[in-house]
Amino acid sequence: MLRYTLAIALLLGLISATADHWAVIVAGSNGYWNYRHQADACHAYQIMKKNGIPESNIILMAYDDVANDPENPFPGKIFNKPNGKDVYAGCNIDYKGDSVNPTNFLSILKGDAAGVKGGNGKVLKSTANSKVFVSFFDHGAPGLIAFPNEYLYANDLNTAFNYMHDNKKYDELVFYLEACESGSMFDGILKNNINIYAITAANPDESSWGTYCYPDDAINGVHINSCLGDLFAVNWMEDSEAENVHSESLAAQFTKIQKETDKSHVMKYGQETFTNEPIGNFQGNFNDAAVKPKVEGFFDRLVLKAKKAAISASDSERHMSAVHSRDSKLHHLYSTLQTKGGHKISIDLSTELNSRMRTDHVFEDLVPSQFRPNGDQIIRPRNFDCLKQAVAQYEKSCGKFSDYDLKYVRQLVNLCETLPNSSEVPVLMKRIQDSCEH
Ligand SMILES: *[C@@H]1O[C@H](CO)[C@@H](O)[C@H](O)[C@H]1NC(C)=O
Repeated sequence: MLRYTLAIALLLGLISATADHWAVIVAGSNGYWNYRHQADACHAYQIMKKNGIPESNIILMAYDDVANDPENPFPGKIFNKPNGKDVYAGCNIDYKGDSVNPTNFLSILKGDAAGVKGGNGKVLKSTANSKVFVSFFDHGAPGLIAFPNEYLYANDLNTAFNYMHDNKKYDELVFYLEACESGSMFDGILKNNINIYAITAANPDESSWGTYCYPDDAINGVHINSCLGDLFAVNWMEDSEAENVHSESLAAQFTKIQKETDKSHVMKYGQETFTNEPIGNFQGNFNDAAVKPKVEGFFDRLVLKAKKAAISASDSERHMSAVHSRDSKLHHLYSTLQTKGGHKISIDLSTELNSRMRTDHVFEDLVPSQFRPNGDQIIRPRNFDCLKQAVAQYEKSCGKFSDYDLKYVRQLVNLCETLPNSSEVPVLMKRIQDSCEH
């Protein structure tokens, strides 16, 4: 009798320890030249859904201008791989258009239903028992990631994480971040004892890369004229689809995609104590036991070798067509000119080139020579008050940062971090203003 009671107690214990699963997926950009971010996001949505996370527990933010953009040769369809499947069918977007913004994103994470505006109002209803998976795809810069009209800064994201931890909004949280300089969102900021594990497409100081770009951007021979995916994003998603989600651990997936993503340095941050759990516990609705490290036999090595050969074949396809994220608009215009031609597109191309040159000149004037060339002097963003003001002042005086221009946020970070004291901030703002309004 005692034995049965124990068994029942154990069973109940197991049941109450069963986690519920949530996913938050964000495409932070708009514009047809950023096709790949909404393609990545819808693809991620399909993976979570296929792996059993109920749609009520998946929250998707995407501007939703790409599928029906007049430039899309397949109206109402989006592809994340050459000759791949349409990922837009059944991709249910909760927050579209201007409701894709940092305030809503943070409110969704915090489970603050009163804090969201627009969209369908869905927020996380996670608890101390939940496993939460977050994936974000967009442009970034040192200390920030972009949304269509605003930026999310690293300090505010990490404040939200701390709130979620203090208010028991998750058991474990995993964040996969695709963006330029994405490491800067966590590096030295994310705590390593709050059960959050984050991996990023790039280190704090480098660009991330688009992939499946022209000429490898074709569906049945028709060019999309925009990159179909991002290298890190496509690497993890194609891996999740190829592998057994019950037996591949987070740690094993990291090692693999770090190797495959050889145009940038895939990084990991935060707490790693639970990375022996299988990916299906986060990118799916499963509650599988931690994966035991396997002792490899002869046949295992043989299978691994064959798998590696297959991976490097598809890898070369991804890498041949990879494009620096900052150049994706230029590449889009160039490939459209190549495949379609036309007067309008050549005007757009020269407009883009002129806009890039103008920004180059502004920053040549603004930034003392010791901070040039771009990126030479690496200083971590810590003075977020100054950085926020500097970005806002720049955009007010000089116009909104384009995806290309975002590379110069590095210089604003350098200027802010080397100010002798906060009373110099207004002087800096005046200099930024003068650099465009003189
Ligand atoms: C701030 O730094 C400037 C430039 O070094 C200096 O002239 C000024 O006295 C400093 N102000 C304060 C309040 O420390």
